[in-house]
Amino acid sequence: MSRNADSLRGYYRWHAKFYDLTRWAFLFGRRGLVETVAGQIEAPARILEIGCGTGKNLVTLAEAFPSARITGLDLSSDMLDRARAKTASFADRVDLLHRPYDGPVSDESGKFDLIVISYALSMINPGFDEVIALCRRDLGEGGVIAVVDFHETRWTWFRKWMGVNHVRMEGQILAQLDAGFEAVVRRIGRGYGDLWRYVTFVGR
Ligand SMILES: C[S@@+](CC[C@H](N)C(=O)[O-])C[C@H]1O[C@@H](n2cnc3c(N)ncnc32)[C@H](O)[C@@H]1O
Repeated sequence: MSRNADSLRGYYRWHAKFYDLTRWAFLFGRRGLVETVAGQIEAPARILEIGCGTGKNLVTLAEAFPSARITGLDLSSDMLDRARAKTASFADRVDLLHRPYDGPVSDESGKFDLIVISYALSMINPGFDEVIALCRRDLGEGGVIAVVDFHETRWTWFRKWMGVNHVRMEGQILAQLDAGFEAVVRRIGRGYGDLWRYVTFVGR
């Protein structure tokens, strides 16, 4: 496993304990992403969330798309333990995969109609660009990618502080998504006035 993956696993060993109690206050746009996607894609049969964490989006996705088979993938077993408990009532159609996203997930049973990545790409450094490229291989024809994540900040101290928390906030994600996908939705939101900006991107 890469150094980045190792250090994220260590980070989430501790942070998993209070993740859900704290992240609502700054991981903005997660529910909005699923609502936006639901307006763009009717009934995806197979959905993948890369970096599903404690499973908040898996539940929202399962409710929004009642006929979908959903896979949540994450490199942290501590986060997945929480996701398993949270998605227990959807266990017949939500699968959890413990691994880094460093190779395709789709197999002979088919590719994905929708890939969701919520606040994971900004933590994958190096390698966020490879992850975006890999999504192409896991998406079926006409498949949709939906991303919400930190975008940028004009405050150097805040960028540095987020760096301490493994988050890179330099506008790098949107640039790469624009290069690889045709945007259907491309929205910039603001956190706490203009302390930071976050991006919502849905593309084909
Ligand atoms: C900030 S959390 C986001 C969790 C969830 N998507 C959400 O919106 O609440 C980032 C998650 O991505 C996972 N992650 C980071 N890099 C990854 C990689 N290369 N492969 C799989 N999971 C990864 C981390 O373990 C962590 O659970």
